[in-house]
Amino acid sequence: MEAIILAGGFGTRLQPLTYTRAKALLPILNKPMITYLIESLPNEVDKVILAVNYRKDQIEEYFKKNSFGKEIIVNDEPEPLGTGGAVKFAEKHITAPFLVLNADVICSLSLDEMIRFHKKNNAVSTISLWPVKNVSEFGVVDIQKDGNVIDFVEKPKPEDAPSDLINAGAYFLEYDVLDYIEKGRLVSMEKEIFPQIINGTGKFFGFEFKGYWIDVGRIRSYIDVHMFLLKKQNIENFTGDNCKINGRLTNSSIGDNVLLGEDSHIISSIVFNNAIIGKNVSLTNCVVGENSKISDHSILTNTVVGDNETVKQNSTLENIVVWNQPIPEGYPKKQIGNVIGE
Ligand code: GDD
Ligand code: MG
Repeated sequence: MEAIILAGGFGTRLQPLTYTRAKALLPILNKPMITYLIESLPNEVDKVILAVNYRKDQIEEYFKKNSFGKEIIVNDEPEPLGTGGAVKFAEKHITAPFLVLNADVICSLSLDEMIRFHKKNNAVSTISLWPVKNVSEFGVVDIQKDGNVIDFVEKPKPEDAPSDLINAGAYFLEYDVLDYIEKGRLVSMEKEIFPQIINGTGKFFGFEFKGYWIDVGRIRSYIDVHMFLLKKQNIENFTGDNCKINGRLTNSSIGDNVLLGEDSHIISSIVFNNAIIGKNVSLTNCVVGENSKISDHSILTNTVVGDNETVKQNSTLENIVVWNQPIPEGYPKKQIGNVIGE
């Protein structure tokens, strides 16, 4: 079976961390986010097509070293084609019903169960569903008791949302679904293709599941997913290899080769590889990028420091994004694709 992983977004809501790396490779407990998804694939998936464009070299590099026992195809779009366009662009690698997965979700969905549900219903498309309060940030379904979806609205205004059940970002699609997608242009799966399948076939199903679902689309949810996984694994902190920790850690995740000075305290924060945290530094709800340095006697709260940045001694920063380098060429000024309120 083939699985397409949509991993080509810029991750604009995760800047400045995504100025220097692909969103799918952001570390979660020191492991690239995309590995959680790959590890959740059913055994019968033997071919993984990575739909990429932005920072595709990093993704290629990572999968050269880690193939997870599967054939990995890095399918590079010449330009971002959107969630539907990226699926169409992978058509040459698809031979049968296939999975499509958003790369920025951490969840307990059993793909095997979803595929069984799809087959039982003789569906054309089945998507995973999760209940949320803030529906406007997602794709929302109108669904019947038997799971038949009769309407799909991407990022509706709260008053227009047909339910509180949202698209959780994993689909199982019949091969013929590819015929709905026009070649060579930006196509949104959610805005254009899903409504067409619903209206054209009446066989679009939604699969609700239990457990957890975290969309890692924003800095807040990026920190939250760490807090959740630490708790789930029943560990207070995660510490990578070769760290020198002289200060204290509380509910935090630290990468490899990190130095933490005396009298410093890291609370509910994420520190990437090779970062240097000086003496008497306090970090609360922060992310510190790779090779970055937080100098002595600094207090940072709700602050994100990009890769390769330095925060001066005695700094007090709250709700700040630290990025003093040029923004990479071609990086969009604002979110593209399925934007809220478009
Ligand atoms: N290859 C490729 N090309 N991938 C893309 C492109 C593209 O042009 N645009 C986005 N992606 C990838 C992103 O990297 C991400 O993994 C996935 O497609 C979804 O795109 P996002 O930009 O993260 O969309 P979203 O979070 O606003 O909304 C989507 O996910 C929600 C669940 O998290 C939609 O599918 C919603 O309906 C859904 O509820
Ligand atoms: Mg997303």
